[in-house]
Amino acid sequence: MSSTRTRLAVVAAAALALAAPLAISNADAATTHTAAAKPDSAAAASFTAAEVLAGVQANMTTAKKVSSKAHINTMTRAQNVNVYQVATGVYAYSSGMAIDTDGSDADPDPDHQGETTWEDSNGQALGSHRVPFYVLGDDCWDRTTPCPHFFYKERGLTGRQFALMFYNGKVIGSIFGDTQTANNQTTSDNDSRELGEASVKAAQLLGIPSSGTTGGVDNGVTVVMFSGSSWVVNGTNANLNTNTQALVQKALDSLGTSMGGGGTTPPAGGTSVEAETGTLSAGGTFDANHLGFTGTGFANPANAAGGYADIPVTVAAAGTKTLTFRYSDGTTAARPATISVNGTARGTLNFPVTANWDTWSSAAISVPLTAGANTIRVTGTTAAGAANIDSVTIS
Ligand code: GCU
Repeated sequence: MSSTRTRLAVVAAAALALAAPLAISNADAATTHTAAAKPDSAAAASFTAAEVLAGVQANMTTAKKVSSKAHINTMTRAQNVNVYQVATGVYAYSSGMAIDTDGSDADPDPDHQGETTWEDSNGQALGSHRVPFYVLGDDCWDRTTPCPHFFYKERGLTGRQFALMFYNGKVIGSIFGDTQTANNQTTSDNDSRELGEASVKAAQLLGIPSSGTTGGVDNGVTVVMFSGSSWVVNGTNANLNTNTQALVQKALDSLGTSMGGGGTTPPAGGTSVEAETGTLSAGGTFDANHLGFTGTGFANPANAAGGYADIPVTVAAAGTKTLTFRYSDGTTAARPATISVNGTARGTLNFPVTANWDTWSSAAISVPLTAGANTIRVTGTTAAGAANIDSVTIS
């Protein structure tokens, strides 16, 4: 169980090999994918911490809230912390950080509790001075199912479940290490609705004062939890920190890609969104009567000047992106179309003819996108209307 205000008499002096937190780049976060950080996977997009945090924040919307009752900020006690599903199986909240000093450790403080709820791979309690871990409520405070609060057992989370933690320009990896005391405790002010507690080690890595009595921060910590067994981190108190930090870039890339839209495997260098996820002006249809389309079909916009296809595109962070349309025009004349983003025209693409309606070609344009949801509109400028549109790739 956690102990948020225990006295920390022995400062953790054991300088383990710290996996340095990644700095959030000051460079243009929208366009700076740190490609150099991905030598093993050149084809995959590589996302910076700033990009992913912007995307997470853009997705912390009412529509994506999974807590119907707010949690309590462990530091301020304000009941204003909610949890959001920012991508499939990925949950985020922002709160303060109170310092948990629990865990049997090489250098325990004198009055911590000896056990964390979860153990390392050798069955030892997690050492709060060694392992960056976060704390969640250990039951559903309302005793109802589904829980009106975020309850880890309903969300595919278990011990040592990986999370990204963002604070003040840094990101670290951390794991689910301890739980906040249940609401049937009468002897403490702990409450399983609290959110916003983490270990001494997590605080140290993020530059937050790490004393169990005087440390912590009231606000500004964003925790993004990745559910599922593939995100459970194995290791011992000696190497769990290293093993956890080793997953940070993978998590940034996974989340950056999944928030980028589409949900399908992107081609090299981009994420594709199927046109059939969008909407059409009157007279347009979604068809599947020609060969070679991806997804479940393609957009056949109305044969009229002004006929359009709207395609929803979500990106993690604002920035200039290349939109590459996969299209077909089996006639003998090009199908020029205006490309608009969120109602603003950004240029015209010619969409030249293809060999037939079963043959797909591409046409690309560079446009500014805003963080979060965008609507891409392809509007035919001639009486024939726009070409058939299969998908758009964002890169
Ligand atoms: C044909 C073709 C359609 C296409 C249309 C057009 O009907 O089958 O897929 O959209 O021509 O001229 O736009």
